[in-house]
Amino acid sequence: MNEPSILLPGRRRLLRAFVTFAAAFSVPGAFAEVLTRTPRQTEGPFYPNHLPLDTDNDLLIVNDGITPAVGRITHLSGRVLDARGEPIRNALVEIWQVDNNGVYLHSGSNNHGGRDKNFQGFGRFLTGSTGEYYFRTIKPVPYPGRTPHIHFAVKMRGREKFTTQCYVKGELQNARDGILRGIRDPKARDAVIVDFAPLKGSRIGELAARFDIVLG
Ligand SMILES: [Fe+2]
Repeated sequence: MNEPSILLPGRRRLLRAFVTFAAAFSVPGAFAEVLTRTPRQTEGPFYPNHLPLDTDNDLLIVNDGITPAVGRITHLSGRVLDARGEPIRNALVEIWQVDNNGVYLHSGSNNHGGRDKNFQGFGRFLTGSTGEYYFRTIKPVPYPGRTPHIHFAVKMRGREKFTTQCYVKGELQNARDGILRGIRDPKARDAVIVDFAPLKGSRIGELAARFDIVLG
């Protein structure tokens, strides 16, 4: 007999939460106001000059290699959205970044001989209907002149290539990085700085990071 009185408040809370959620998604105009467009950032000089044979979304393992890349394992995901918050499908998301020694895959990279051969350095993911992408990679490290960052390119048919960079929240060098500081609008700058947070339940110290890309 007590059951309904125990269940009802919970149900009501759940319903309210759902209604709020539904409202947020059914009024595009209202939702769009909370979305900050991801600022464009320079592609930089280190997009791979020779694409690796393996371009999948797991940067920790190259082809059938058994030795994983060195570095802090990070599950990097997010959504590609338009300015109204609608997911964009068939967007080719590419990332590239230095290995744990600060070396790019690009043959012109600083200290190229010291490269971690087990790190793929580049990866691709094609979004589906949810706009979601996912990579397994390492937490970026600094290299001379730059705070840690991951380069992104988003390619879509009929649209100009979009490039940006994603940064690690809390990195001391963020405040001194010329390219990051080049984003003048604080809201836009915050939109490219994301948490690399410990992954719940991971016994090997993996991290998770979410970076949504909002296109204009
Ligand atoms: Fe870079």
